[in-house]
Amino acid sequence: MTTFRIAGADDAAAVAELHGDSWRRHYRGAYADPFLDDEVPEYLAALWAKRLAVREGTVTTVAEYDGQLVGLSHIVFDADPKYGALVDNLHVRAPLKRQGIGTRLLALTAEHVRGTGLYLWVLEQNTAAQAFYEARGGIRGDSQHVPPPGGQPRRLNGQPVCLRYYWPDPATLTTS
Ligand SMILES: CC(C)(COP(=O)(O)OP(=O)(O)OC[C@H]1O[C@@H](n2cnc3c(N)ncnc32)[C@H](O)[C@@H]1OP(=O)(O)O)[C@@H](O)C(=O)NCCC(=O)NCCS
Repeated sequence: MTTFRIAGADDAAAVAELHGDSWRRHYRGAYADPFLDDEVPEYLAALWAKRLAVREGTVTTVAEYDGQLVGLSHIVFDADPKYGALVDNLHVRAPLKRQGIGTRLLALTAEHVRGTGLYLWVLEQNTAAQAFYEARGGIRGDSQHVPPPGGQPRRLNGQPVCLRYYWPDPATLTTS
């Protein structure tokens, strides 16, 4: 059975590993190969150690199966005055995709939002995730250039684009 809980500082290494594996599988093309293949483990280990130590204004939810981490979702409250809370990361372990874990993670994440909308950015190339957000009732909004990880443009291939999906009423995610 898959279980869900809020992550703490002790989860940082496992969350970083799952996040990196998902980036390597799904972000190649937009993110540069040297970044994905050489730098991501250290970059994400540092990012998650800091995030899960502080946790102010954010919630990270993880999914587990047989004691192994199989999914993660990270939300930043009040990230945007118009769109509300930002789902900054949502990833399910590759072999376990399409079994409802992403839906459950997004629903549990949405439950934490109070009085604002919810939104996220998805890579233009990531049409599978776009189909998921559309199935979950997300509205497609504007687009922007992907901000380079750590502010370093060489970590991207050119100027990839990402699309906004948003939910003015996140309660629809918890009931759908
Ligand atoms: C996107 C992601 C989080 C979705 O989670 P998931 O557990 O695979 O999705 P679910 O099983 O909850 O899917 C629910 C519904 O969304 C739609 N959907 C999900 N994946 C889809 C796909 N690849 N193609 C078309 N529709 C899809 C379907 O309607 C699906 O219902 P169904 O399986 O009964 O047809 C997950 O696939 C993932 O981690 N992908 C790789 C990382 C990623 O792209 N993250 C998003 C970054 S913005």
